[in-house]
Amino acid sequence: MSLSNEKVVELLEMELQALKREGVCSLPISRDSILSLKNLLSELDESDNIFTSLKQSSIGCNEVYKNPMTTKQTLPSNPKVILPEGGKLEKYEWLKHKVLNCEECKKHVRPGKKIVFGIGNVDADILFCGEAPGADEETLGEPFVGRAGQLLTKIILAMGVSRNDVYIANIMNWRPEMPTTVGNRPPTQEEMEFCLPYLLAQIEIVQPKVIIALGATAVSGLLGHDPTRRMRDVRGKWATVANTPLMVTFHPSYLLRNNTKAAKRTVWEDMLEVMKRLNMAISEKQQNYFL
Ligand code: URA
Repeated sequence: MSLSNEKVVELLEMELQALKREGVCSLPISRDSILSLKNLLSELDESDNIFTSLKQSSIGCNEVYKNPMTTKQTLPSNPKVILPEGGKLEKYEWLKHKVLNCEECKKHVRPGKKIVFGIGNVDADILFCGEAPGADEETLGEPFVGRAGQLLTKIILAMGVSRNDVYIANIMNWRPEMPTTVGNRPPTQEEMEFCLPYLLAQIEIVQPKVIIALGATAVSGLLGHDPTRRMRDVRGKWATVANTPLMVTFHPSYLLRNNTKAAKRTVWEDMLEVMKRLNMAISEKQQNYFL
Protein backbone atom coordinates (compact mmCIF):
# COMPACT_ATOMS: atom_id res chain seq x y z
CA MET A 1 0.00 0.00 0.00
CA SER A 2 1.50 3.35 -0.94
CA LEU A 3 0.55 6.49 0.92
CA SER A 4 0.17 9.93 -0.62
CA ASN A 5 2.70 12.59 0.41
CA GLU A 6 -0.06 14.41 2.28
CA LYS A 7 -0.87 11.30 4.26
CA VAL A 8 2.81 10.66 5.05
CA VAL A 9 3.25 14.22 6.33
CA GLU A 10 0.01 14.05 8.27
CA LEU A 11 1.09 10.84 10.02
CA LEU A 12 4.55 12.24 10.66
CA GLU A 13 3.11 15.42 12.13
CA MET A 14 0.83 13.41 14.43
CA GLU A 15 3.75 11.31 15.59
CA LEU A 16 5.89 14.39 16.29
CA GLN A 17 3.06 16.08 18.15
CA ALA A 18 2.56 12.97 20.27
CA LEU A 19 6.27 12.87 21.13
CA LYS A 20 6.27 16.59 21.98
CA ARG A 21 3.30 16.11 24.30
CA GLU A 22 5.22 13.43 26.09
CA GLY A 23 8.08 15.82 26.71
CA VAL A 24 10.45 14.87 23.90
CA CYS A 25 12.20 18.11 22.92
CA SER A 26 14.57 16.96 20.23
CA LEU A 27 15.14 14.02 17.94
CA PRO A 28 18.28 12.90 16.16
CA ILE A 29 17.69 13.19 12.41
CA SER A 30 20.10 12.29 9.67
CA ARG A 31 21.00 14.63 6.83
CA ASP A 32 19.41 12.24 4.35
CA SER A 33 16.14 12.28 6.28
CA ILE A 34 16.15 16.08 6.31
CA LEU A 35 16.63 16.14 2.55
CA SER A 36 13.83 13.60 1.98
CA LEU A 37 11.56 15.60 4.24
CA LYS A 38 12.37 18.83 2.41
CA ASN A 39 11.55 17.19 -0.92
CA LEU A 40 8.35 15.78 0.44
CA LEU A 41 7.26 19.12 1.87
CA SER A 42 8.17 21.06 -1.25
CA GLU A 43 5.80 18.87 -3.23
CA LEU A 44 2.87 19.81 -1.09
CA ASP A 45 0.50 22.60 -1.97
CA GLU A 46 1.57 25.76 -0.10
CA SER A 47 -2.01 26.72 0.51
CA ASP A 48 -2.70 23.52 2.38
CA ASN A 49 -3.09 24.87 5.89
CA ILE A 50 -2.86 21.62 7.71
CA PHE A 51 0.84 21.32 6.95
CA THR A 52 1.85 24.93 7.22
CA SER A 53 3.03 24.77 10.79
CA LEU A 54 5.24 21.81 10.05
CA LYS A 55 6.65 23.34 6.89
CA GLN A 56 7.64 26.45 8.78
CA SER A 57 9.19 24.27 11.50
CA SER A 58 7.40 26.58 13.87
CA ILE A 59 6.49 24.09 16.55
CA GLY A 60 8.83 24.66 19.48
CA CYS A 61 8.97 22.02 22.17
CA ASN A 62 6.74 23.75 24.64
CA GLU A 63 4.65 25.72 22.26
CA VAL A 64 1.04 24.79 22.18
CA TYR A 65 0.08 23.20 18.91
CA LYS A 66 -2.08 25.54 16.88
CA ASN A 67 -4.22 23.31 14.78
CA PRO A 68 -5.74 25.33 11.95
CA MET A 69 -8.93 23.36 12.48
CA THR A 70 -9.45 24.90 15.85
CA THR A 71 -7.37 28.03 16.24
CA LYS A 72 -9.87 30.09 14.26
CA GLN A 73 -12.66 29.09 16.58
CA THR A 74 -13.32 31.33 19.52
CA LEU A 75 -14.44 29.63 22.65
CA PRO A 76 -16.73 31.51 25.00
CA SER A 77 -15.26 32.86 28.21
CA ASN A 78 -14.38 30.33 30.91
CA PRO A 79 -17.26 28.69 32.67
CA LYS A 80 -17.81 29.99 36.18
CA VAL A 81 -17.91 27.22 38.73
CA ILE A 82 -19.19 27.91 42.22
CA LEU A 83 -19.52 24.66 44.05
CA PRO A 84 -22.68 24.15 46.08
CA GLU A 85 -22.67 23.56 49.83
CA GLY A 86 -22.56 19.92 50.86
CA GLY A 87 -20.35 16.87 51.10
CA LYS A 88 -17.67 15.91 48.61
CA LEU A 89 -19.84 13.37 46.80
CA GLU A 90 -22.70 15.82 46.38
CA LYS A 91 -20.29 18.41 45.01
CA TYR A 92 -18.73 15.83 42.71
CA GLU A 93 -22.11 14.77 41.30
CA TRP A 94 -23.15 18.42 40.89
CA LEU A 95 -19.97 19.25 38.99
CA LYS A 96 -20.10 16.10 36.89
CA HIS A 97 -23.67 16.98 35.86
CA LYS A 98 -22.57 20.53 35.02
CA VAL A 99 -19.67 19.35 32.85
CA LEU A 100 -21.62 16.60 31.09
CA ASN A 101 -24.24 19.22 30.23
CA CYS A 102 -21.78 21.97 29.28
CA GLU A 103 -23.06 23.33 25.94
CA GLU A 104 -19.59 24.23 24.71
CA CYS A 105 -18.18 20.79 25.58
CA LYS A 106 -21.11 19.13 23.82
CA LYS A 107 -20.41 21.13 20.65
CA HIS A 108 -16.96 19.57 20.36
CA VAL A 109 -17.93 15.97 20.93
CA ARG A 110 -18.32 13.77 17.88
CA PRO A 111 -21.70 12.14 17.34
CA GLY A 112 -22.11 9.09 19.56
CA LYS A 113 -19.07 10.00 21.67
CA LYS A 114 -18.90 11.33 25.21
CA ILE A 115 -17.64 14.20 27.31
CA VAL A 116 -15.08 12.80 29.75
CA PHE A 117 -15.18 13.82 33.39
CA GLY A 118 -12.72 12.86 36.15
CA ILE A 119 -13.24 9.64 38.05
CA GLY A 120 -12.10 8.00 41.25
CA ASN A 121 -12.06 8.47 44.96
CA VAL A 122 -13.16 11.92 46.07
CA ASP A 123 -11.10 11.37 49.24
CA ALA A 124 -7.97 10.43 47.30
CA ASP A 125 -4.53 11.58 48.43
CA ILE A 126 -3.31 11.44 44.85
CA LEU A 127 -4.86 13.13 41.82
CA PHE A 128 -3.39 12.16 38.46
CA CYS A 129 -3.89 14.73 35.73
CA GLY A 130 -3.54 13.80 32.07
CA GLU A 131 -4.04 15.74 28.89
CA ALA A 132 -7.26 14.98 27.03
CA PRO A 133 -9.44 12.02 26.21
CA GLY A 134 -8.44 9.84 23.28
CA ALA A 135 -10.58 7.56 21.15
CA ASP A 136 -11.18 4.94 23.87
CA GLU A 137 -11.93 7.55 26.49
CA GLU A 138 -14.45 9.47 24.38
CA THR A 139 -16.18 6.17 23.58
CA LEU A 140 -16.46 5.04 27.19
CA GLY A 141 -16.70 8.48 28.82
CA GLU A 142 -13.91 7.67 31.27
CA PRO A 143 -10.35 9.00 31.48
CA PHE A 144 -7.36 6.73 30.89
CA VAL A 145 -9.05 3.56 29.72
CA GLY A 146 -7.00 3.00 26.54
CA ARG A 147 -3.44 1.68 26.27
CA ALA A 148 -1.93 4.61 28.14
CA GLY A 149 -4.63 4.18 30.77
CA GLN A 150 -3.82 0.51 31.23
CA LEU A 151 -0.21 1.45 31.81
CA LEU A 152 -1.25 4.15 34.27
CA THR A 153 -3.28 1.52 36.13
CA LYS A 154 -0.14 -0.66 36.35
CA ILE A 155 1.84 2.27 37.74
CA ILE A 156 -0.87 2.91 40.33
CA LEU A 157 -0.89 -0.78 41.33
CA ALA A 158 2.91 -0.78 41.57
CA MET A 159 2.57 2.03 44.10
CA GLY A 160 0.54 -0.34 46.25
CA VAL A 161 -2.83 1.33 45.66
CA SER A 162 -5.63 0.78 43.16
CA ARG A 163 -7.48 2.95 40.65
CA ASN A 164 -10.30 3.19 43.21
CA ASP A 165 -7.94 4.80 45.73
CA VAL A 166 -6.86 7.67 43.47
CA TYR A 167 -8.58 10.32 41.39
CA ILE A 168 -7.92 10.58 37.65
CA ALA A 169 -8.70 13.69 35.62
CA ASN A 170 -7.67 15.43 32.45
CA ILE A 171 -6.96 19.02 31.50
CA MET A 172 -9.63 18.70 28.81
CA ASN A 173 -13.10 17.23 28.90
CA TRP A 174 -13.48 16.50 25.21
CA ARG A 175 -11.22 14.85 22.67
CA PRO A 176 -9.62 17.66 20.65
CA GLU A 177 -11.02 17.65 17.15
CA MET A 178 -8.87 16.40 14.33
CA PRO A 179 -9.28 16.46 10.57
CA THR A 180 -9.17 12.67 10.70
CA THR A 181 -10.83 10.15 13.02
CA VAL A 182 -7.51 8.58 13.91
CA GLY A 183 -4.77 10.16 15.98
CA ASN A 184 -4.85 12.76 18.68
CA ARG A 185 -3.54 16.27 18.99
CA PRO A 186 -2.72 18.24 22.10
CA PRO A 187 -5.31 20.83 23.08
CA THR A 188 -4.79 24.47 22.20
CA GLN A 189 -4.12 26.96 24.97
CA GLU A 190 -7.62 28.33 24.49
CA GLU A 191 -9.18 24.90 24.87
CA MET A 192 -7.15 24.21 28.00
CA GLU A 193 -8.09 27.55 29.51
CA PHE A 194 -11.76 26.91 28.84
CA CYS A 195 -11.73 23.55 30.67
CA LEU A 196 -9.42 24.63 33.50
CA PRO A 197 -12.18 25.81 35.88
CA TYR A 198 -13.67 22.30 35.70
CA LEU A 199 -10.34 20.75 36.66
CA LEU A 200 -9.70 23.26 39.44
CA ALA A 201 -13.16 22.56 40.85
CA GLN A 202 -12.35 18.83 40.92
CA ILE A 203 -9.14 19.64 42.80
CA GLU A 204 -11.14 21.79 45.20
CA ILE A 205 -13.54 18.92 45.87
CA VAL A 206 -10.97 16.14 46.24
CA GLN A 207 -8.32 18.26 48.00
CA PRO A 208 -5.61 15.74 47.16
CA LYS A 209 -2.33 15.81 49.07
CA VAL A 210 -0.42 15.49 45.81
CA ILE A 211 -1.22 16.13 42.14
CA ILE A 212 0.77 14.26 39.50
CA ALA A 213 0.97 16.00 36.11
CA LEU A 214 1.38 13.44 33.35
CA GLY A 215 3.34 14.99 30.50
CA ALA A 216 4.09 18.44 29.15
CA THR A 217 0.51 19.34 28.22
CA ALA A 218 -0.76 18.62 31.71
CA VAL A 219 2.02 20.84 33.05
CA SER A 220 1.09 23.67 30.65
CA GLY A 221 -2.57 23.31 31.53
CA LEU A 222 -1.95 23.37 35.26
CA LEU A 223 0.91 25.87 35.50
CA GLY A 224 0.14 27.99 32.43
CA HIS A 225 1.89 28.17 29.11
CA ASP A 226 5.59 29.01 29.37
CA PRO A 227 7.63 28.75 26.16
CA THR A 228 10.84 28.53 28.17
CA ARG A 229 9.71 25.57 30.24
CA ARG A 230 11.35 22.27 29.30
CA MET A 231 10.17 18.88 30.50
CA ARG A 232 13.75 17.85 31.21
CA ASP A 233 14.00 20.74 33.69
CA VAL A 234 10.68 20.29 35.49
CA ARG A 235 10.26 16.49 35.45
CA GLY A 236 10.82 14.87 38.82
CA LYS A 237 10.54 18.22 40.57
CA TRP A 238 7.90 19.61 42.87
CA ALA A 239 5.82 22.61 41.91
CA THR A 240 2.61 23.95 43.42
CA VAL A 241 -0.85 24.29 41.95
CA ALA A 242 -3.99 25.31 43.83
CA ASN A 243 -1.93 25.23 47.05
CA THR A 244 -1.19 21.56 46.40
CA PRO A 245 2.22 19.96 45.74
CA LEU A 246 2.53 19.00 42.09
CA MET A 247 4.91 16.29 40.84
CA VAL A 248 5.73 16.40 37.16
CA THR A 249 6.42 13.18 35.30
CA PHE A 250 6.21 11.77 31.80
CA HIS A 251 2.91 10.74 30.27
CA PRO A 252 2.35 6.95 30.20
CA SER A 253 2.19 7.08 26.41
CA TYR A 254 5.83 8.24 26.51
CA LEU A 255 6.63 4.92 28.17
CA LEU A 256 4.65 3.07 25.52
CA ARG A 257 6.91 4.59 22.91
CA ASN A 258 10.10 4.41 24.96
CA ASN A 259 9.74 0.97 26.39
CA THR A 260 13.14 0.96 28.10
CA LYS A 261 14.07 0.11 31.65
CA ALA A 262 15.67 3.56 32.00
CA ALA A 263 12.50 5.41 30.99
CA LYS A 264 10.40 3.25 33.30
CA ARG A 265 12.82 3.85 36.16
CA THR A 266 12.68 7.61 35.57
CA VAL A 267 8.90 7.66 35.96
CA TRP A 268 9.10 5.19 38.82
CA GLU A 269 11.53 7.45 40.69
CA ASP A 270 8.97 10.26 40.40
CA MET A 271 6.36 7.92 41.89
CA LEU A 272 8.76 7.01 44.72
CA GLU A 273 9.09 10.73 45.48
CA VAL A 274 5.31 10.97 45.71
CA MET A 275 5.14 7.89 47.95
CA LYS A 276 7.81 9.35 50.23
CA ARG A 277 5.96 12.66 50.46
CA LEU A 278 2.79 10.81 51.43
CA ASN A 279 4.63 8.62 53.95
CA MET A 280 3.51 5.52 52.07
CA ALA A 281 5.28 2.27 52.89
CA ILE A 282 7.95 1.46 50.30
CA SER A 283 9.20 -2.12 50.19
CA GLU A 284 12.70 -3.00 49.07
CA LYS A 285 11.15 -4.58 45.99
CA GLN A 286 9.35 -1.33 45.15
CA GLN A 287 12.51 0.68 45.83
CA ASN A 288 14.38 -1.43 43.30
CA TYR A 289 11.84 -1.65 40.45
CA PHE A 290 13.47 -1.19 37.02
CA LEU A 291 17.00 -1.05 38.40
N1 URA B 1 -4.24 10.35 27.64
C1 URA B 1 -4.63 11.32 28.48
O1 URA B 1 -3.90 12.27 28.69
N2 URA B 1 -5.82 11.23 29.02
C2 URA B 1 -6.62 10.20 28.84
O2 URA B 1 -7.70 10.17 29.41
C3 URA B 1 -6.18 9.18 27.98
C4 URA B 1 -4.99 9.27 27.39
